[in-house]
Amino acid sequence: MVNVHIDPNFDDEERRSKLFSGDVIVYTAVAAVDAFAAFTRELVTEAFLPDDPPTVDATRSPDELAEILIDFKPRFIHHPESIGHVRRVTSSLGASLEDTYADVPKLRTAFPAGGLSTGIAKAFQVHRDTWYAAPTQQINWWMPVWPAAENNVMEFYPRWFGRAIPNTSGDYDYYQANIWRSRIKDFSGSADTRVHPSPVRPLPDDEPRLCLVPPVGGIMLFSGDQLHASIPNTSGVTRYSIDFRTVHLTDIREGRSAPGVDVACRGTALRDFHRLTDHAALSEDDVAPYDSGDAEGVKVYVPS
Ligand SMILES: [Fe+2]
Repeated sequence: MVNVHIDPNFDDEERRSKLFSGDVIVYTAVAAVDAFAAFTRELVTEAFLPDDPPTVDATRSPDELAEILIDFKPRFIHHPESIGHVRRVTSSLGASLEDTYADVPKLRTAFPAGGLSTGIAKAFQVHRDTWYAAPTQQINWWMPVWPAAENNVMEFYPRWFGRAIPNTSGDYDYYQANIWRSRIKDFSGSADTRVHPSPVRPLPDDEPRLCLVPPVGGIMLFSGDQLHASIPNTSGVTRYSIDFRTVHLTDIREGRSAPGVDVACRGTALRDFHRLTDHAALSEDDVAPYDSGDAEGVKVYVPS
């Protein structure tokens, strides 16, 4: 069973254990989240001037949108203020900055159905992040930047938490994917030929779904091992959201995590996580037990 907790009082340790057992947690009003959303709205608005970001797809072609986002998204990710916001959001919700390692925050754009949905604005189909080499200790933090709605967010398939589903994660190699990342433009048209792990068979139409819509200023936490997908955006407006991922050092060292029952990909994303106090990477000793790739990290493969 998956429980949804709204504004709970758990400390970070109890929260992680609930998330690893499949629960989802929503905080509805967090000042630091609100500040991160406001900061992001300002940057996005500037990038799309003179158009209004939620309706920008009406005036710009998919190619123009891809071009703007290919320039903008890395600037957002690496903006010095962005990781500062991650620090303030996590610490204001009780995470220890000393023990928490985070990946850079990503801005997601979901254009109305029929618009740009590949490459830089990829609409992710049914997947677990763990099929993409996310550690099973990973916690996902997801927050809207403009108001979201039930027809433009993401949904979970709670029946499959901790339960194996035949999938293609065995085709995915994290180190190969890192090389594709540097060629994102090539995959932002009709030819998104990257490997995207998915269930072998589509989920049935009557699959039970769970869809949560936090307000702006709110944030949702879930395990990277949850089966989930972007919902085709039928709202008529573009959805902008931020997500980032964290792991806790104790969980890495003690192997406390979500079940990861059907993960067959190679490699690990653990080297992407940095300590929130000083940006230190995890040590290779901490990473090695989870590296199912060729164990030499991100430069194992050369593009063919
Ligand atoms: Fe995901």
